[in-house]
Amino acid sequence: MKILGIESSCDETAAAIVEDGYRLLSNVVASSMDLHAQYGGVVPEIAARSHIEVVDGVIQQALDEADCAWDDIDAIAVTYGAGLGGSLLIGVLTARTLAITKGKPLYAINHVEGHVYANFLTEVKKSPVQSAGSEQSELGEEQGRHERSKVSPEEGLAPPGKGGNSLSDYRLPSRQPAFPVLALIVSGGHSQLALFRDHFDYTLLGQTQDDAIGEAFDKVAKILGLPYPGGPSVGKKALDGNPTAFKLPKSKMSEKYDFSFSGIKTAVLRVAQEQIGETFAFPSKDIPARLDEAQKADIAASFQRVAVETVVDKTMLAYNEFQPASVVIAGGVAASPELRKQLAERLPITIEYTDPRLCTDNGAMIATLGCFHMKLGRLMADPHSLDIKPNLSM
Ligand code: KG4
Ligand code: ZN
Repeated sequence: MKILGIESSCDETAAAIVEDGYRLLSNVVASSMDLHAQYGGVVPEIAARSHIEVVDGVIQQALDEADCAWDDIDAIAVTYGAGLGGSLLIGVLTARTLAITKGKPLYAINHVEGHVYANFLTEVKKSPVQSAGSEQSELGEEQGRHERSKVSPEEGLAPPGKGGNSLSDYRLPSRQPAFPVLALIVSGGHSQLALFRDHFDYTLLGQTQDDAIGEAFDKVAKILGLPYPGGPSVGKKALDGNPTAFKLPKSKMSEKYDFSFSGIKTAVLRVAQEQIGETFAFPSKDIPARLDEAQKADIAASFQRVAVETVVDKTMLAYNEFQPASVVIAGGVAASPELRKQLAERLPITIEYTDPRLCTDNGAMIATLGCFHMKLGRLMADPHSLDIKPNLSM
């Protein structure tokens, strides 16, 4: 079973082909991130326009790199929410058109659920030589090796900032997560803890009541004058800083698995203003020019430690209460080395992380979840009427 996944909920136009819910055949991501960087965040109109320009090419590249013709594709899976309305529309309308014209079943995918399924990919496409060896056919069975893939040379559409298209260097978990799965979903739009008893059977334990953790990283980057997206740039700056230089607050929530990140963001702003000897009325846009590199590094390191500790604390609380068989992290912030380090130190079970390129938005996670929709006979979407749901929740 080969599924084409299409993702366009934010600033990444992405398409991928996944086989049987665990084998990655191609993963193409074109990002308009560079266009947004000068504004310090995603500009919805620019993102939508850029999706229109590249979506056809991205899908064709995903088919080419997977060595697939349309006849080989069993279904199309597309993100229909949550996300930016204009961005979602491009992916959904493209998927609907292709489903009709190519005669393929269509599955509507929840973006946040999709993030979790990036962790179910355990293999990349075999090269012709390797595929002569052992065969694996059952969904989710016997996935123990990292296969190397040979992909066609990059042409045209190089995905900016994503480090090329070759699958051969993807580091994937050795096996799929066992249920019950505790999932920490941390991205630019979401901070959630969910307990999956099985596919499509989960409980949302808690979520952010204001900013998402990725959003906090992005805003702190702006205060420090570091480039967008803030996650990687704050993480990099933090390497030179003292993580205990500043005391920053962890929000106390009435619901024990809920999060809040607006308090720490404001606390960072106050620390920065104090460091340059100004009042709290001092405009944040003028702060970066007044902070020296050591101050920036200390603020970045202190913020990163506390923000990550906040989500790790809640993950540990949930782990101890529910004793899941496995824990996964998902979403852009799951690429954070600091998060990976803290979790690995504190969890009593081994946690296998997926490749950082599968943590940020991609089509592979959408295609993977699409495989399970198809395999488990879930309801198909109507290609004549599927609508976007910008505010879709879990
Ligand atoms: O999942 P994603 O690509 O888009 C959303 O669905 O929101 O997540 C983007 C977020 C951004 O806030 C970005 O700053 C953060 O993920 N991010 C990171 C890292 N890479 C991306 N945060 C921490 N460390 C990283 N390496
Ligand atoms: Zn996302």
